[in-house]
Amino acid sequence: MDMEPKPRIFVTRRLPEPAMAILSAFGNVSLWDQVETPIPRDELLRGIAKAEGLLCLITDRIDAEVIAAAPHLRAVSVMAVGYDNIDRTALAARGITLTNTPDVLTETTADLAWALMLAAARRVVEGHRLIERGEWGPWHPMQMVGQDIYGRVLGVVGAGRIGQAVLRRGRGFGMRLLYHNRRPNPSLETELGASYRNLNDLLIESDVVVVTAPLTPETRGMFGAAQFALMKPTSIFVNVARGPLAREDDLAAALRAGRPWAAGLDVFEREPIGPDHPLLTLPNVVLTPHIGSASVATRLRMATLAAENLVAVLSGQPTPNIVK
Ligand code: GLV
Repeated sequence: MDMEPKPRIFVTRRLPEPAMAILSAFGNVSLWDQVETPIPRDELLRGIAKAEGLLCLITDRIDAEVIAAAPHLRAVSVMAVGYDNIDRTALAARGITLTNTPDVLTETTADLAWALMLAAARRVVEGHRLIERGEWGPWHPMQMVGQDIYGRVLGVVGAGRIGQAVLRRGRGFGMRLLYHNRRPNPSLETELGASYRNLNDLLIESDVVVVTAPLTPETRGMFGAAQFALMKPTSIFVNVARGPLAREDDLAAALRAGRPWAAGLDVFEREPIGPDHPLLTLPNVVLTPHIGSASVATRLRMATLAAENLVAVLSGQPTPNIVK
């Protein structure tokens, strides 16, 4: 009896072994065999020529040109919850299924939002640097004073899974909870006690603003000079979503002017940023290199889930992670 040929799969980076094992057990796998370096464009276009399945990362731009270069493509699996790097219209035109890795990274990403919030509010990195420079003098009453988080007002913009997890943590900190979404979600009122606000009111009332909205044509640039001007001079701005939601030049100018008081950012307009980035000249920012979901357990789970999703779609099995 003839064996059915195994489906061809292309992977844009070497993933942790358990994920590679899932793919190899099912398909004929080829990959860009690097761990840290993204695949160059020409290698990507060449690599996917025969692929029925593609497993990619947020560093890969999967646009119409890439999709056109893959005439056999049936499934794309991204190891991320966000998929703004993928041209969904071009996929849909060909009937190609897209999957992502939601849920498994929700709590880990909410933890990082809180890490940035607390670090920015309490000047954790500034304090570390001060000691490093040998400038820690005698204790004095107003030394390195920051802002309280406990008991203040937390406003989340984009109250999806991650936003809700950020809000839930706020209850333990005795915070009043506000959220802004495309539309109000009454279950957030009943389950979390969070109140809906339009964006302007949320910015005016909140002591901490955490951005967890996806990047779409509607959300791109939604935080600019006019929005930062509404924030309190004691407020903290945190972005763990996508950099282009906030205009970085406007944010830098606003932080320089002291409104908001500080920012914690995990995402940037163009990543990676270098040591010459203007935000790094400001004392009131805490920056991390897009590590929202980067715990050992969560990154392993995302990699295996991305592999499982691809295998499920290529073999016609159900998966809850199809992007609709
Ligand atoms: C990371 O940014 C993700 O979307 O999972």
